[in-house]
Amino acid sequence: MAEIAVPEVNIQDIFNLGGKVVVLAGGAGLLGPYFAAAVAAAGGSPVVMDLDGPGAASLSTGLSRRYGVPALGLGLDVGDEAALRSAFAEVRRLGPVHGLVNMVYAKPPGYYQSLESYSAGTWEAALHGSLTSALLCLRETLPEMCARGSGSIVNVGSIYGIVGPDQRIYEGLALTRWIATTYGHRGVRANCLTLGGVQGGQSDRFVERYSGRTPLGRMACPGDYTGALLLLLSEAGRYLTGANLVVDGGWSAW
Ligand SMILES: NC(=O)c1ccc[n+]([C@@H]2O[C@H](COP(=O)([O-])OP(=O)(O)OC[C@H]3O[C@@H](n4cnc5c(N)ncnc54)[C@H](O)[C@@H]3O)[C@@H](O)[C@H]2O)c1
Repeated sequence: MAEIAVPEVNIQDIFNLGGKVVVLAGGAGLLGPYFAAAVAAAGGSPVVMDLDGPGAASLSTGLSRRYGVPALGLGLDVGDEAALRSAFAEVRRLGPVHGLVNMVYAKPPGYYQSLESYSAGTWEAALHGSLTSALLCLRETLPEMCARGSGSIVNVGSIYGIVGPDQRIYEGLALTRWIATTYGHRGVRANCLTLGGVQGGQSDRFVERYSGRTPLGRMACPGDYTGALLLLLSEAGRYLTGANLVVDGGWSAW
């Protein structure tokens, strides 16, 4: 019988983001600090863009101090084309953009109204904040990724895009597949990271009922998603594109 050669797999190397710039749009909220810390811990340079300028700035300072990597925190409305253009000019001084994580979650006044009384203005503001901003970030980053022949885009979605009727999220997923099929041959990968609910601020009854219908028996904590994010951003995920990676404790598996 022929001998079977043992393949060389270097786990540290394939998850390493050494020196790579990753922009996290909407990165100063609940999940952003965990995602940015995962990038920094993998050796990458996180850039946090958020309406909350002081929050983004203090987070980036803390990340640099803790992980010894360059980091940047920029306060801006990511849906504002001119502001975004100058923000990316600043980012490029740090280095070429390797990764883009679209995770802006716009909640304009009236966001939580029921559908029957939903105002068109609130709807449009939510779409502009969450989706148009993603388009603008893509426009800023795709050309350089294609020119270089590498890049990773992560569009963060929600389980309510796959088990609920939230058409905005379906559009998000279609956008991911469109980028994946159009730019794959130029070395750019695009994936959707679909997340389950994170515990924080809900009533005890809600947490109990949500946990009860989740196979893993609990809501997520923000750190639950960092491994999946690194998989999508790093060499470890080099053959992953156009995928919807559902990380939800089994919520959508029933
Ligand atoms: N938290 C959850 O339970 C959960 C569950 C599933 C999916 N997600 C998804 O994860 C992503 C992040 O969610 P989160 O819980 O961290 O949200 P969050 O509301 O805590 O943070 C979102 C951030 O986006 C920023 N933002 C909003 N509009 C902006 C704009 N125009 N320009 C710049 N920044 C803007 C806010 O200031 C905020 O810091 C979102 O895509 C969300 O849909 C969250």
